[in-house]
Amino acid sequence: MIPAGPTGLRFLGVGSALPPKILTNDDLTASMDTSDEWIRERTGIGQRHIGGTTSGLATEAAAVAMTRAGVDPADIDLVILATTSPDYICPGTAPAVARELGLDCGAFDVSAACSGWVYGLTIAQGYLMQGMGRILVIGSETLDRITDYTDRGTGILFGNGAGAAVVEADPRGPDAGGGALLGWDTGADGNYVHILYSEHDGVLQMDGKEVFRQAVKAIVRSTTRTLEMAGLGIDDVDLVIPHQANVRILEAAWKKLGFSMDDTVEILERTGNTSGATIPMALDQALHDDRIAPGDNVLFLGFGAGMTWASALVRWAES
Ligand code: UT7
Repeated sequence: MIPAGPTGLRFLGVGSALPPKILTNDDLTASMDTSDEWIRERTGIGQRHIGGTTSGLATEAAAVAMTRAGVDPADIDLVILATTSPDYICPGTAPAVARELGLDCGAFDVSAACSGWVYGLTIAQGYLMQGMGRILVIGSETLDRITDYTDRGTGILFGNGAGAAVVEADPRGPDAGGGALLGWDTGADGNYVHILYSEHDGVLQMDGKEVFRQAVKAIVRSTTRTLEMAGLGIDDVDLVIPHQANVRILEAAWKKLGFSMDDTVEILERTGNTSGATIPMALDQALHDDRIAPGDNVLFLGFGAGMTWASALVRWAES
């Protein structure tokens, strides 16, 4: 158990990647009985990207993150790649990404579905506490390989993409302007394996209503635990960067917690649900839009198949 309390961690650079091919809601009406209006109203999704490979998108996003961080391959000590759609069942996808980036370091995958990138961030924190220098935490997905785009229960939701962040230890501490992981929570409930899964060589099977219900519960429980660890309240959170599966899930959870969509980064309309890639891609969007100021408290919030969930409250470094 990593001890509770502030642990220096700051983001040096963030990047993302989307494959060029777009599948719009209107495109889907050719293969299933649905409409743009229904999908937008019931999910908030307008389009999703398809194509590419998980390692290729991860490499592209990570290369951008490294350039923005101003680091060389020799500066990276570890690659943690969250994915639920790896290139191969074996080996993991991270070693291929490390090779493409010219890295000489450890590299492994995290399989925790849509919570994977936040799990990865908490794992990175553990390594940083042990003295590791800089870590790439990536989320990358090619969900089009496990999505049936003729099934209107699942095919409207999922798309491809990748996001990546370079993080490093920050020795300053939050009171001295340092970045820090102020609180975090990871959880799982294997009783709900059957509500969202894919068998080998299969496609995603989902009980959408039950996933919706369990997601709202997990969001509320995990946010509460993370804020408790940080000793902070809802009003202390400046920005929420949640996993995005359906805008209505967030609206239902926000009603219980007291967040508003104004506090929330939303990319779902243009990306669909990209599982482990959603949160780092939304972080990239937030930075691009200047929505994070030094000293802000940013809440990352993942939930998904497993069920798994994970949240992390980060104090953004002064510089
Ligand atoms: O990362 C986690 C991943 N998964 C999720 O987060 C999924 C969570 N669940 C959901 O997002 C929603 O449950 C869905 C979007 C999957 C479905 O939305 P819903 O509001 O739960 O719809 P529903 O299944 O209750 O269906 C309502 C109606 C039904 O028609 P009737 O029986 O009322 O006549 C469905 O047959 O809407 C119909 N319907 C559709 N109509 C047009 C269901 N899917 C569609 C569709 N297009 N794609």
